[in-house]
Amino acid sequence: MSDHDYMRQCLELARQGRYSTHPNPMVGCIIVKDNVIVGQGFHERAGEPHAEINALKMAGTQAQGATLYVNLEPCCHQGRTPPCADAIIKAGIAKVVLAMQDPNPLVAGGGITKLRSAHIEVIEDILKKEAQTLNRAFCHYITTKTPFIIAKWAMSLDGKMAVLNQKERQLSSQTSQEEVHELRQCTQAILIGSGTARIDNPSLTVRLGKTIIRQPQRIVLNTKADLDPQLKLFNGELPEKTWLICAKKFETAAKERFNADTTEIITLPGDTITIPSLLKEVGARGIMSVLLEGGPTLLQEFISARAVQEIICYIAPWFVGTLPNKIALGALSTSNVGTDIKIKTIMEH
Ligand SMILES: NC(=O)c1ccc[n+]([C@@H]2O[C@H](COP(=O)([O-])OP(=O)(O)OC[C@H]3O[C@@H](n4cnc5c(N)ncnc54)[C@H](OP(=O)(O)O)[C@@H]3O)[C@@H](O)[C@H]2O)c1
Repeated sequence: MSDHDYMRQCLELARQGRYSTHPNPMVGCIIVKDNVIVGQGFHERAGEPHAEINALKMAGTQAQGATLYVNLEPCCHQGRTPPCADAIIKAGIAKVVLAMQDPNPLVAGGGITKLRSAHIEVIEDILKKEAQTLNRAFCHYITTKTPFIIAKWAMSLDGKMAVLNQKERQLSSQTSQEEVHELRQCTQAILIGSGTARIDNPSLTVRLGKTIIRQPQRIVLNTKADLDPQLKLFNGELPEKTWLICAKKFETAAKERFNADTTEIITLPGDTITIPSLLKEVGARGIMSVLLEGGPTLLQEFISARAVQEIICYIAPWFVGTLPNKIALGALSTSNVGTDIKIKTIMEH
């Protein structure tokens, strides 16, 4: 097996922490001695042992003289757990192969320097791109202190995000919805605006899919805090509290209107909710990634503020126009044309 093969396994192990490590990165580690894997582990939850420690524990004395593979530079600072670089040195590891440096300003090359000072051979940048992609939310958050934003929406073939007849409002397929629910599990919070809360009365929970492991934090923007407290998001039928973000001057009214057991009122300075102040506040509360599931108003605000890092758009075989009911189209077939995608379908009569 090559360094790349072992690193690929590290990335796979790391991915096992995708529901639970935030705001920490996903990290997997493998220890190899004489071409045999003698230890492996991944980081499961913030505050719990890092991947390297789990792998070293499994390897025991076999770590002596072995090679350690890890997708992120070992830490060199005392956080909630002791520095991994020290544990690696103490265990007698001879060589460390890693995918990328830790962008955390508290580490940023310090772990590598520490290992090299202890005469451990360090090889860098193995599957670097893949490792950066896996931890893109962490990399963004640790360097900006604001959450990584994934904007997601579904639309009809004619580009409409909403249908007049509320009973027909679902545009994307069951399979797409299952995929979105999986994405919800891997994201720390879901954000919508008051328009979506009012019209759709959503739960914003993970309900579909094979395994339901965690629920994201629900966040609603409502400047004047004038939404109906009987909406599902606030009436107590959902687990944990929904965060309602409003302008500071409506704080008293908000606290009178909403039940403190179901709704956490968060206020932002000024008369309106600005994107920079929102991102700062949500980031300060330890939210590393947000799935933006709002309507066109919120999407436009975020995209024009250049506050979105990723966009996922589902296009469904419907024609909506301004009709009372949507019209079904045939299955969509797609091809790439220049920078566009071409979508073809047929109308069944
Ligand atoms: N197809 C899809 O993927 C999809 C997804 C979501 C929603 N929808 C549809 O979209 C429709 C609702 O659209 P919408 O645009 O009204 O919903 P929205 O974007 O979720 O909510 C907009 C509201 O959010 C509040 N808000 C607070 N701060 C804001 C800020 N900085 N920027 C923008 N908005 C802010 C404003 O109301 P306040 O004055 O209360 O603050 C604003 O009117 C519904 O019909 C729903 O079904 C479709």
